Amino acid sequence: MSARKITVVGAGHVGESCAQRLAEKELAEEVVLIDIIDGIPQGKALDQWESAPIEGFDTRVVGANDYEPAAGSDIFIVTAGIARKPGMSRDDLLNTNARIVGSVSSEIARVAPDSIIMMVSNPLDVMAYVALDTTGFPRERVIGMAGVLDTARYRSFVALELDVSVEDIQALVLGGHGDTMVPLVNYTSVSGIPLTELLPRERIDALIERTRNGGAEIVGYLKTGSAYYAPSAAAVQMAEAIVKNKRRILPCAAYLEGEYGHEGIFLGVPCKLGRGGLVEVVELTLSDEEQAMLDGSAEHVRSTMAALSG
Ligand code: NAI
Ligand code: 2OP
Repeated sequence: MSARKITVVGAGHVGESCAQRLAEKELAEEVVLIDIIDGIPQGKALDQWESAPIEGFDTRVVGANDYEPAAGSDIFIVTAGIARKPGMSRDDLLNTNARIVGSVSSEIARVAPDSIIMMVSNPLDVMAYVALDTTGFPRERVIGMAGVLDTARYRSFVALELDVSVEDIQALVLGGHGDTMVPLVNYTSVSGIPLTELLPRERIDALIERTRNGGAEIVGYLKTGSAYYAPSAAAVQMAEAIVKNKRRILPCAAYLEGEYGHEGIFLGVPCKLGRGGLVEVVELTLSDEEQAMLDGSAEHVRSTMAALSG
């Protein structure tokens, strides 16, 4: 199963890596890469297409500076905008990226009114709202990528700590994409064994702290930008779940309509993804402490949204 066309908007680090992964997995017949910089999407797309005979994929990859080649796309992965530099929080990107994401969203609604938008640009939860608000799409068709990335970071750190395969670690990180994210220790297990049976609480707390700082840790090393290998892998895993109608349950930013006690904001919650995008928000029982952390995270998203309109 594959889509006919998937478009990636923004041919920077995350976007180019998404396009390459989509093509290598043959998740669409055609991948379109769009950027405002003349020549960049065309050059990167052609370079990727020239790797097709070696990697053995038939997905056509094309680059463009306008949206006509993207007409009728099934999915748009939006990575356009500016990224963090050392000393910047995701929220520092707010107004610049809101302008960019607003104009990108208008173009998407114009050329592909039935498409699904997967937001990646930061601050993630608010940019997803900008796309929903601008396009008027139903919430099923606007989803944000963050929880899969944050959970992958957490899983990778747990695997290193226990010296076990990443494949055996199940976990969920909910909440907004930022320092207030909510790793659920009670839902973390290693081949079904609760993590709390395998590690003392202080080690788990250290892994959680590293997860919260996961984005900043990479920015600290790179200095000129932020992470893109794990982010692109996360976005493409979500696209695969949609394209193949896998009905996977993945932590994604969804527009809440009362679930977990919140409405009118995007927040990271477990989502069933399949054909059409968001199939269902899955509601879990949270401890009082976890619910309080989720409420705090929601509050942070709301205050960032308020800064946007103000
Ligand atoms: P980048 O700077 O490498 O690429 C951004 C690209 O967007 C640039 O090529 C730029 O020319 C392009 N762009 C700017 N305005 C545009 C417009 N109006 N239309 C089309 N393209 C436009 O940045 P990178 O590293 O690719 O990150 C992209 C965004 O994704 C950032 O906002 C970053 O914070 C966010 N991000 C979010 C993650 C998440 O978990 N949700 C993870 C990693 C990055
Ligand atoms: C990250 O978590 C910057 O949001 C991006 O790496």
